[in-house]
This record gives sequence, C-alpha cells and structure tokens, in this order.
Amino acid sequence: MKTYISASILGADLLNLADECDRLKENNVDMLHFDVMDGQFVNNISFGLPVLEKISKYTDIFLDVHLMIKSPLDYIDAFAKAGSNMITFHVESDSDPDETISTIKKAGVKAGISVKPGTPVEEIYRFLDRVDMVLIMTVEPGFGGQGFIPETASKIETLRKYITEKNIDVDIQVDGGINNKTIDIVRKAGANVFVSGSYLFNSPSMAEAVKSLK
Ligand code: DX5
Ligand code: ZN
Repeated sequence: MKTYISASILGADLLNLADECDRLKENNVDMLHFDVMDGQFVNNISFGLPVLEKISKYTDIFLDVHLMIKSPLDYIDAFAKAGSNMITFHVESDSDPDETISTIKKAGVKAGISVKPGTPVEEIYRFLDRVDMVLIMTVEPGFGGQGFIPETASKIETLRKYITEKNIDVDIQVDGGINNKTIDIVRKAGANVFVSGSYLFNSPSMAEAVKSLK
C-alpha cells in the first residue's frame, strides 16, 4: 500500500509560507494539508481562500484541503477554483454529504469525507464507493499541537478491515497528534495518509522527521 505524508500548514511558520512550501518540496513531503476553520463548525478561525490561492500559484505540491466549516457545500466551487487537489469535508457538517461529494467531483477535484473522534466510522460506509479518501480525526478538530487520542485506532482498524473485505479502493488519512511514536499505532491499524503539523515543522531536521514517518 502506498503511504503519503501530508504537512499541516497550521504547524508552519505562517510569516514565511513560501519558504515553508520550498522546505516541503525539498524534503519530499507528498502533500500540503490546508486546514480551514470557520469559528462555527469548530471553535477557531484559521485562514481561507486568498491564502490557498497564493499557495497554489506558488507551489506545485498536492493541496489537501481539510474543511472544518459548517456549510462546506456552499464553498466547494470556490475552494476548487483556488487550487485544491483534494477537498475533505466533515460528515457532521450541515451540508448534504451526497450533494457535497457530487459537487467536489464535478469540480474535477478528489473527494474526502471525515469523521470526528466521537463519530462512528460506520456513518460514512454508504459514501465509500464515491470518495477517494476517508479522514479519521485522531484529535478533536480545531487546533494543532494536541495529543493523539488512542481510542481512534480501533476505528481505523474497523475501516481498513471493511474496505479490504469489500475490495474498495480508498485511502485512510489520520490527522492530529501524529509523530514518530504515534505513527506506529495508526500505521498498524491501517492508515496510509499521515497528516503531521507540529511534529514535522518543529523537528530540528525536517528530513529526519519525514524519514521517521515514512
Ligand atoms: C486539527 C487540524 C490538524 C492539525 C494537525 O484541527 O485538522 O490538521 O493542525 O496538527 P498536529 O500534527 O500538530 O496535531
Ligand atoms: Zn486537518
């Protein structure tokens, strides 16, 4: 199974995003994870369309956009136009998941669906044949730098077993508290796309940090 590292921009030096994009490319990081928060779906506000647009014009790294917003459907076209390569939204949001997936696909972008730590993974089973990725949150969405929630590992195992049995081709992404220790737990459970923010950007050597996650 191919594995990917996606760097959460929340952990980056936000005053020097161009340098940070270069650093990700130099260290063979596969994706940039762009966390969008609206102060409604989560208790925090991050950044949005104009920043994404600038980044997509500057770098060719794969842009993995994580929408932690109340009404993702209303913003899919705008996020696609701003340069997203993949858009992940939450099943707990107010938007209709079927319509949201169709809109993402129609925009020519890959689609991901996410569950918060307290949401059973079975809730997304009916969308599995239409999405490219499932994001299993390993912290409560809202802030970078939180500790990994160990109980989420069983959800990853359950999903990996299910998609293997049904022969469904979908990536399993994990996001929150991923570092050189917790990676072993989530990899063993069956995840193959690893988001890392604070660990990746704060390590003394990004090259070493990437190696420890691959
Ligand atoms: C949390 C975000 C994550 C987070 C990851 O709401 O979705 O992407 O920034 O950062 P770390 O790796 O620091 O937990
Ligand atoms: Zn995220």
